[in-house]
Amino acid sequence: MVPNITYHIMFICTFVYTKYILVEVHTDNNWLWWKHGVIYHIYPRSFSDSNGDGIGDIRGIISKLDYLSNLGIDGIWLSPVYPSPMVDFGYDIANYQQIDPVFGTLTDFRELLDAAHSKRIRVIMDLVMNHTSEKHPWFTESRSSRDNPKRDWYIWKKGKRGNTPNNWKTVFGGSVWEYDHKTQEYYLHTFFKEQADLNWHNEDLKRTFFNGIKFWLDMGVDGFRVDVINLISKDTHFRDNPIPFGIPLLQKLRYNSNMPESYNIARELRSLLDDYSERMCVAEVYSVPPGDSAVAASYLDKGHNAMNMAFDFSLMLRGWSARKYFHSIRKWYSLIPESGWACNVLSNHDLHRNFDRFWYRRNKIEKARVSAMLLLTLKGTPFLYYGDEIGMRNARLKRKEILDPLGKLFWPFFKGRDKGRSPMQWTHEEHGGFSDCKPWLPVNDDYPELNVRSQERDKGSLFNFYRTLIALRKRYKALSKGEWSPLIRGKNGILVYLREFELEKLMVILNFSSRRKKVELPGNSTGKIVFSTHRVQEDEFFSEMMIAEPFEATLIEFPEAA
Ligand code: NOJ
Repeated sequence: MVPNITYHIMFICTFVYTKYILVEVHTDNNWLWWKHGVIYHIYPRSFSDSNGDGIGDIRGIISKLDYLSNLGIDGIWLSPVYPSPMVDFGYDIANYQQIDPVFGTLTDFRELLDAAHSKRIRVIMDLVMNHTSEKHPWFTESRSSRDNPKRDWYIWKKGKRGNTPNNWKTVFGGSVWEYDHKTQEYYLHTFFKEQADLNWHNEDLKRTFFNGIKFWLDMGVDGFRVDVINLISKDTHFRDNPIPFGIPLLQKLRYNSNMPESYNIARELRSLLDDYSERMCVAEVYSVPPGDSAVAASYLDKGHNAMNMAFDFSLMLRGWSARKYFHSIRKWYSLIPESGWACNVLSNHDLHRNFDRFWYRRNKIEKARVSAMLLLTLKGTPFLYYGDEIGMRNARLKRKEILDPLGKLFWPFFKGRDKGRSPMQWTHEEHGGFSDCKPWLPVNDDYPELNVRSQERDKGSLFNFYRTLIALRKRYKALSKGEWSPLIRGKNGILVYLREFELEKLMVILNFSSRRKKVELPGNSTGKIVFSTHRVQEDEFFSEMMIAEPFEATLIEFPEAA
């Protein structure tokens, strides 16, 4: 038996080792998984249906973990899987600590966590803090009477001179105020009227909500994508928003976005996550006009680096131009505080497919490769949207097939968000191998040719292009950790930049144009082609002058930069 004193010394040493040395390693900000990994956004309804009801589910996701692992994915973000009346397809949550039966059970979810973790894939959930479903029991109580203890968990106001309490407009159009006949007051909803906004000034609500977050963290969830973080707090005086030129559509969100309390809550959330090891949060930020990088970056900064990352949507909204992309990227990086971290994204469930942006028009597959090379060689964590890796197109839906309430409301001017949410195309089999029965949204009819199975087998496919780039991002620290420095800033359709880390030095050359371009590169060292749309790997490359082929994307390695 080990003598008592030795035992105590060993115990103390082990304690010190685990507490300080291991924790040191885990909290080394340069090596956190979400900084060097690639994250894949799954829209669960459309990923894989395991039980033949036409809707994707958690067991379906489990069945595709090998696929994700083979692609090289480090983390998945699931759009909401909580119980929901599905007015906004899950972004109207009726219970924060359960799984909607359409997606499975808590047991399925735990199994997903375990299975994903065993493959070194982290799992991020969606966190909708701004609002709940009107069917959430909290809201049922809140609307039951003016003196219900949960009345103040939501935002209730009396009308003003027979009108709504102020002039604020919802993100989806119309007043944010909905009159409740029973209690004769208005409640506030920033999105659909079925999504009532929570009152984050109420301490009880805050405490209860944060306990709910702990529920998932204790279970092992690796982080959250936080829905519209910048809208969650409102002006306490409910002042009218300014309306430039009297045009209601131009209403500024002065008093219902980016209020100081939103930053405080972001900071509190971050500090809760920091109590656990290696958890993360990435913020979605809404702005008018959309894609305001400065607002997104302010959530990394103003809240004392509150969010680990925030989405900058500017790349999604740019026309196809090397110069415009360059300016967006440079602006984005310049806004990120020293201790912050960028992430980059080209598509999500609210916008058109990257492959099919209407302004891309011709040469879509070539542009998809150029944009994939860009996304996966930029500084900052790449977020891929399911199906982009095989070049899935926007769904072409008939009016009767539209399910997104926004599409129903604004047809034919805006056909809604369904077009970027069609079922994943796994095989050439019926329903694209997504389900055994008719899916909730039609599978794009190009699935017999355009599907995962056929692309996995084809060395030259977009899927294998993504897969190689992801593998290279893991192989070269310069790509995940390195500095980014531009060499050619979009002039003449050419974007060239360096990624450097310690002795690694890589150059990325992207030709956004459909013409051959003479490119004069600074410096004159010899490198080798690592990966290219047009050149043979391992070929020598002499950096001084090159002719870039139309839509060429090439990655070059230079030997020891010393
Ligand atoms: C942003 C989400 O991305 C979108 O899909 C949703 O409709 C709104 N937030 C409301 O939750």
